[in-house]
Amino acid sequence: MGPSKLVTATFSILFACATIVTVAAVAVGPQPQSEADAEAQDAEVALKLTPDPQRGREIYLMCAVCHQPEGWGTADGVYPQIAGQLYPVIIKQMTDIRARNRDTPTMVPFTTLSVLSLQQLADVAAYVSELPMNPNNGVGPGTNLEQGERLYREHCEECHGTRGEGIADEHMPLIQGQHYPYLVRQFEWIAQGKRRNADPEMVEQIREFSAEDISAIMDYTSRLSPPPEKLAKPGWKNPDFAEFVRPPTRQAGG
Ligand code: HEC
Ligand code: HEC
Repeated sequence: MGPSKLVTATFSILFACATIVTVAAVAVGPQPQSEADAEAQDAEVALKLTPDPQRGREIYLMCAVCHQPEGWGTADGVYPQIAGQLYPVIIKQMTDIRARNRDTPTMVPFTTLSVLSLQQLADVAAYVSELPMNPNNGVGPGTNLEQGERLYREHCEECHGTRGEGIADEHMPLIQGQHYPYLVRQFEWIAQGKRRNADPEMVEQIREFSAEDISAIMDYTSRLSPPPEKLAKPGWKNPDFAEFVRPPTRQAGG
């Protein structure tokens, strides 16, 4: 090998190294600036993993205590229905809760990385998103549904979909068939700024609604039923947790 060839070879090696370093730097990305950035990065990383719903099923045991084996929550709205929620939305909500963007102290311990790694989060999110939904969720008083529908069409449809089905790619939650008291509570919390992850456009809108408006919209939303293929048969119990001991006071309304 002559001297000029040697120089060329050395250059190629140097160039290759530089390329590797650059690629590695891009892949790792900038270090998170704040908790919100860290959380956004976690959600992004989790979304790229390949979930294993079978493993998710084992992890779900610790969620079932509150969200019930079916993922239907409780009709009083203390625990939301999470069954059938869109996969990316579950990931986003869980990383938000961990970053304390939502005032949900009961949930925080179950979202810390030592309890739930990002892979486990992906696994359990996949399991939950595939659970059939409650055919009998808690609904509102049914007294003002026309106004509820009008306000929903005007203010909510664009983001949450015609039937409250959400938009997976944009992390817009599915809200159809959710328990009425939970919906009302979330709305009040969003309006009071207790959910710091809320969409700013949505927060603006909410501030203008009266309590009567909110009740009407949420009553209507709670009655938007999911499509038949997402719904459980009446009386369905999750066979994955046949041995689960159910506290008698908490009814999923199902
Ligand atoms: C100790 C009770 C408890 C446990 C255990 C628990 N959760 Fe929750 N979870 C809650 C409560 C309460 C809320 C509603 C918080 C609120 O009102 O903002 C919630 C909210 C959620 C939400 C957001 C729902 C929405 O519509 O915004 C998701 C997703 C969720 N939980 C998933 C899980 C998963 C997955 C697990 C298991 C890894 C789990 N939870 C374990 C109590 C619990
Ligand atoms: C500009 C888009 C946009 C509009 C308009 C909008 N939302 Fe939302 N909404 C969102 C996003 C994004 C989230 C999730 C934010 C978060 O992570 O907290 C959300 C969250 C929610 C939640 C909480 C869901 C859950 O499972 O925790 C409810 C309930 C809700 N919206 C209802 C409504 C209703 C009712 C209207 C109409 C009055 C409305 N939204 C209008 C974007 C929107």
